[in-house]
Amino acid sequence: MKNPSRRLHKSITMKPILTPLFLPVFLHIITVHVAGDTSPIYTPVDDITVQCGFSGHQLNTEDNRTWTGDINSKFSPLENQAAGRSSTYRQAPSSSPVNQLPYSTARLSLYEFTYEFPVTSGQKFVRLYFNPVSYGPDFDPSNALFSVTAGGFTLLEDFNASVTADAFGLDTIYREFCLNVESDESLNIAFTPTRATQDTYAFINGIEIVSMPNNLYYTSAENSDGVNYVGSDNTFRIENSTALEMVYRFNVGGRSLVFIQDTGMYRNWDGGQKENKYLDDLSYKFSVLPENSSIELNFTDIAEYSAPEELYHTGRSMGLNKTINKSYNLTWEFPVDPKFLYLVRLHFCEFEPKITKARDRQFQIFIANQTAEQLADIIEWSGGNGRPIYKDYVVFMPAGPGSQKKVSLFLALQANPKDFMTNYNDAILNGLEIFKLSDTNRNLAGPNPDPPLLITPRVIAPPQSRKFSNKSSTSLIAIIAGLVSGVLVLGSVLGFFLVFRRGRKNKDSSSNQGMKWDPFSFPATHRTYGPSYLCRYFTLAEIKAATRNFDDSFIIGVGGFGNVYKGCIDDGATLVAIKRLKSESSQGAHEFKTEIELLSQFRHRHLVSLIGYCKDGNEMVLVYDYMSRGTLDSHLYHTDNPLFLGISVSKFVSALQ
Ligand SMILES: *[C@@H]1O[C@H](CO)[C@@H](O)[C@H](O)[C@H]1NC(C)=O
Ligand SMILES: *[C@@H]1O[C@H](CO)[C@@H](O)[C@H](O)[C@H]1NC(C)=O
Ligand SMILES: *[C@@H]1O[C@H](CO)[C@@H](O)[C@H](O)[C@H]1NC(C)=O
Ligand SMILES: *[C@@H]1O[C@H](CO)[C@@H](O)[C@H](O)[C@H]1NC(C)=O
Ligand SMILES: *[C@@H]1O[C@H](CO)[C@@H](O)[C@H](O)[C@H]1NC(C)=O
Ligand SMILES: *[C@@H]1O[C@H](CO)[C@@H](O)[C@H](O)[C@H]1NC(C)=O
Ligand SMILES: *[C@@H]1O[C@H](CO)[C@@H](O)[C@H](O)[C@H]1NC(C)=O
Ligand SMILES: *[C@@H]1O[C@H](CO)[C@@H](O)[C@H](O)[C@H]1NC(C)=O
Ligand SMILES: *[C@@H]1O[C@H](CO)[C@@H](O)[C@H](O)[C@H]1NC(C)=O
Repeated sequence: MKNPSRRLHKSITMKPILTPLFLPVFLHIITVHVAGDTSPIYTPVDDITVQCGFSGHQLNTEDNRTWTGDINSKFSPLENQAAGRSSTYRQAPSSSPVNQLPYSTARLSLYEFTYEFPVTSGQKFVRLYFNPVSYGPDFDPSNALFSVTAGGFTLLEDFNASVTADAFGLDTIYREFCLNVESDESLNIAFTPTRATQDTYAFINGIEIVSMPNNLYYTSAENSDGVNYVGSDNTFRIENSTALEMVYRFNVGGRSLVFIQDTGMYRNWDGGQKENKYLDDLSYKFSVLPENSSIELNFTDIAEYSAPEELYHTGRSMGLNKTINKSYNLTWEFPVDPKFLYLVRLHFCEFEPKITKARDRQFQIFIANQTAEQLADIIEWSGGNGRPIYKDYVVFMPAGPGSQKKVSLFLALQANPKDFMTNYNDAILNGLEIFKLSDTNRNLAGPNPDPPLLITPRVIAPPQSRKFSNKSSTSLIAIIAGLVSGVLVLGSVLGFFLVFRRGRKNKDSSSNQGMKWDPFSFPATHRTYGPSYLCRYFTLAEIKAATRNFDDSFIIGVGGFGNVYKGCIDDGATLVAIKRLKSESSQGAHEFKTEIELLSQFRHRHLVSLIGYCKDGNEMVLVYDYMSRGTLDSHLYHTDNPLFLGISVSKFVSALQ
């Protein structure tokens, strides 16, 4: 390469990313979504959607379900009006960050009120939606404190919605429960204010009740084995007398799948950065994301409605190097409430063509630091490549030391260290669900979280290597927040907000709890904690080491916004493309921030993935994945979508070579 700069200047043109060139990427993704919408595999018998504090009906065009108001309708709550203890209803203020159905209106009361839903018998999802904003001077969000019971179970107790939202960096709170309705009668859901002060009240914005297939999560009467009780030789039965609360649900190694992409039960499967942030450092660094979107699945072992097909097309495994595979455990850490039993469901599917027989890939599974499987062998369990399967485990989480509100539930997969036993020293996981089980008092409620600043850094912050340097974070966050809301407005105008919302929600919170794609919560400025746990922060020293102080011989591309270098990070283990932005133009600074925010949230075959960034003084550097050649290669075949943030991808790839 005699004059790389000049040669490459012709082939790479960098443009500001918010030009129309950027749009086809989004529009394309939208098309994929729509095209992927086939009729659901499961049709619930009961499918009730109630918007509280609302009169009439409202159609959600995303899934064609109608939300019915609870004012003067069959869903009106029961209350003691004679004693003057009526509830009231209000509209969320226009200043509410989220103002879409069902968050736009609320029912509120200083006294208990009860909904009585006509439902068939059987197991149901119950989903509750809360928008903790001020509903007038008499309904300040800090005065909302209440309990919710349903079908004899305590779902929430002394629930402080506003502190819960604050702690998780959310505007709205969504909770999903499972319970069994015994007889063909009705299901009562009661909201009771905690008598803390004269002003404490209860409120609710939306209620959803959806039937689920019999024994999807419960243990069927025919199943004499029950569920593996981790840490004992016993098994456990999840009986109809138990209620469950969904606390985590992931499309592991894949993108978020939202309620309309579920199999008919309107479940949300979080993916992308929402899953990444629960990985430990080594797993985040070394794990890889195999994918085979063309494999035809054969559901022989589990029902097709168990999880969306796409979940079994992606996964997370250990990396490409045997030595490294053996040197770490693929580990996730989930904060949970102590003193409860948890149901952990692991979804598996071998789809890589090289894994076809038993013993091709055997590994160990540890749940809560106890052995759950000595020799996991997905092919042996499922009967072959392309056959989805899931495995259930129940584990008890004891109280931690001191009075800490959350304890960590670790899930660790260990490659088989013995070469003679397995062809690949590797482990894989495709999906994950964690439910809290009601205790002997038929209670599911845990304590409210502490307000944000009191949460221990380990819980709210990313692992060290992904941390933001404190110095520049505040102003950067502010600017990003502004930019993001700008992009959202633009998005709504152009109609790609479904995709963006998926991305946006990735910023949600640090730990825990039902972070659903609220169906109607489009845009407005969400609380933004900045990209600190979205992608990795590199020091300038690391970047300089990777590029030998931006040595010209490392340049692989030049554009209006700066040079692109090829470099090695992690002691030479990872090859990356490093984009150094010229600092003089404010346009450059904007591009930098927007690109971090956008790219760190997407994992899509049309987007080269952003690994991290560096901001130090005037230096602004973006670091992209260069190792996953598969990812880059795939861009070459998608000529319908040649644009990657203003850079022609195929040219980008050829430039990297
Ligand atoms: C909703 O209904 C309309 C009209 O029947 C139909 O064209 C559209 O595809 C439906 N959308 C979904 C998500 O089912
Ligand atoms: C639980 O209830 C469902 C109906 O709601 C019933 O079909 C099932 O057999 C029950 N399970 C057990 C173990 O009794
Ligand atoms: C809810 O939590 C916030 C933050 O800790 C607190 O200020 C507020 O008083 C709490 N509300 C009630 C009714 O306890
Ligand atoms: C996907 O699976 C199919 C069927 O097993 C196989 O033929 C194909 O090579 C796989 N593709 C990739 C990229 O692994
Ligand atoms: C799925 O597996 C079953 C059982 O082995 C087999 O009989 C059937 O042909 C397979 N179906 C497909 C579409 O491969
Ligand atoms: C695997 O990783 C080890 C430890 O980092 C390294 O020594 C070795 O060269 C790597 N092997 C390959 C094939 O990359
Ligand atoms: C993986 O986890 C198990 C159980 O905690 C532990 O015994 C083992 O040493 C770990 N392996 C590695 C390589 O860290
Ligand atoms: C449980 O395992 C994780 C890693 O898998 C480890 O970090 C943690 O210290 C272990 N906890 C206990 C109590 O052994
Ligand atoms: C390590 O894991 C990767 C997949 O994550 C697998 O392709 C590779 O074969 C494993 N290494 C060895 C040498 O078994």
